[in-house]
Amino acid sequence: MKYDTILVLDFGGQYCHLIGRRIREHGVYSEIVAHDIKPEEIRLLKEKFNVKGLIFSGGPASVYEPNAPKPNPHILDAELPILGLCYGHQLIAQMVGGKVEPAKEREYGIAYVTINKPVGVLKGLNAKEKVWMSHGDTVFSIPADYEVLAHTENCPVAAFRHKKKPIYGLQWHPEVVHTEKGTKMLRNFIFEVCKCKANWKMEDIIEKMIEEIKTEVGEGKAIIALSGGIDSSVATALAAKAIGNRLTAVFVDHGFMRENEPEFVKNVFQKFKLNLIITDAQKRFLEKLREVTDPEKKRKIIGEEFIRVFEEIAEKTGADCLIQGTIYPDRIESGFRKFSDKIKTHHNVAGLPIKIKFKKIIEPLRDLYKDEVRRVAKMLGLPKEIVSRQPFPGPGLAVRIIGELTEEKVRIAKKADKIVREEIEKSGLEENLWQYFAVLTDTKATGVKGDARAYGYVVAVRLVESREAMTASFAKIPYEVLERISTRVTNEISEVTRVVYDVTHKPPATIEWE
Ligand code: XMP
Repeated sequence: MKYDTILVLDFGGQYCHLIGRRIREHGVYSEIVAHDIKPEEIRLLKEKFNVKGLIFSGGPASVYEPNAPKPNPHILDAELPILGLCYGHQLIAQMVGGKVEPAKEREYGIAYVTINKPVGVLKGLNAKEKVWMSHGDTVFSIPADYEVLAHTENCPVAAFRHKKKPIYGLQWHPEVVHTEKGTKMLRNFIFEVCKCKANWKMEDIIEKMIEEIKTEVGEGKAIIALSGGIDSSVATALAAKAIGNRLTAVFVDHGFMRENEPEFVKNVFQKFKLNLIITDAQKRFLEKLREVTDPEKKRKIIGEEFIRVFEEIAEKTGADCLIQGTIYPDRIESGFRKFSDKIKTHHNVAGLPIKIKFKKIIEPLRDLYKDEVRRVAKMLGLPKEIVSRQPFPGPGLAVRIIGELTEEKVRIAKKADKIVREEIEKSGLEENLWQYFAVLTDTKATGVKGDARAYGYVVAVRLVESREAMTASFAKIPYEVLERISTRVTNEISEVTRVVYDVTHKPPATIEWE
């Protein structure tokens, strides 16, 4: 069966993938394609998909810039419904001879549009609607075979359509949640204008990803670095389904993992047909890190050593393909990783050069958002502990142990981390927290234990709420829960005399301490 499909032409806008995802949410398949796709290429795609419409995404350029991305000049004759959004809206206007000019006033953020004619994409909307705009250029007029469907104070042609053909333009972004009726607008386009049938399900994407891995790996072998986080776990499960034990999953235990993590990973993945290697490399890492206190140096050493361990194993397996759990937000320029990268060196396999030359690097999750990955994880039967895991940094507890890393400090940090996790999960607060963990500071403080003076470590508790990790707030949880954490940490870990709560937002602090 061929899916009814909407193709999204990518003009470089930060919401381009979000459009694809919003369409899929309604059970209609959507693929992102190059902005200059030719009508013949669309005809070829029709052998695989029932292409029912095109969306031109937004983009950062101005239609007047010399290198501004332009669609194929014949695309409007492809005899398919077309919806241009923001830059896409301006492009269509320019292509058909409308007047597009820099706006007198740049509109950015929430705007109220007046709907002149609630038809087609705008069917069922009120006279005034709240939308999200972000544009420098404005469409001032449109030729006579088009009609204006909406305007704002500064934008005389905020929405238009062709009088006879199903071609529409919207200056705003229906795909972002700030456009109140955005879903209705997209549904109108998909179902009313393009007449799509909702014949696609999330399960189908699983089949597609498995097929892709099979084709790419061919008769060869593949390897993946499995961290136990949701993304690499899902990629591993998919690859195991695709190529069975021609897949080697490597879990490098650098020793800074949460308590019982290697056992947990082994337990989850022994159900899958794959070749799982768990290396205990703690000694090797501690050796390299002896007397190192600088956080950036620590991160760098751990990252490099991780790659070296991984390479040694990869070489032995003879794998010619590398599979990675990279997801869509990892790739976008404005994503949290890039933002954070400026602040600290993030550790992941993609970020460091691997000396082995692989024939192929396969990233089956590259177009998915985190919550879509979670849905796939559930459908693949991965346990709840994986599906709803909090993010865990590549260098693990090492960025939560301040100062030199020693076996003693790692042991204390693991215990404290376990207590924080247990107490937060027992109180049911984890649903609202982005991350919850303990930090072993390098400060010692005086205490009294069993009537005697004690001098021990200070543990900090870090509980944050966040949506994207770009910003975060410390969580204002009940004191009773903090009290239970503090009591348990000082009772169960003899080396700790004091527990403090980190009440700093991000910014100015980062989420992790190092
Ligand atoms: P910061 O501390 O920069 O962290 O506010 C933002 C988010 O990124 C996670 N984090 C990492 N993730 N490799 C990762 O994959 C890393 O090296 C790394 N360092 C921090 C952190 O846990 C938070 O969710």
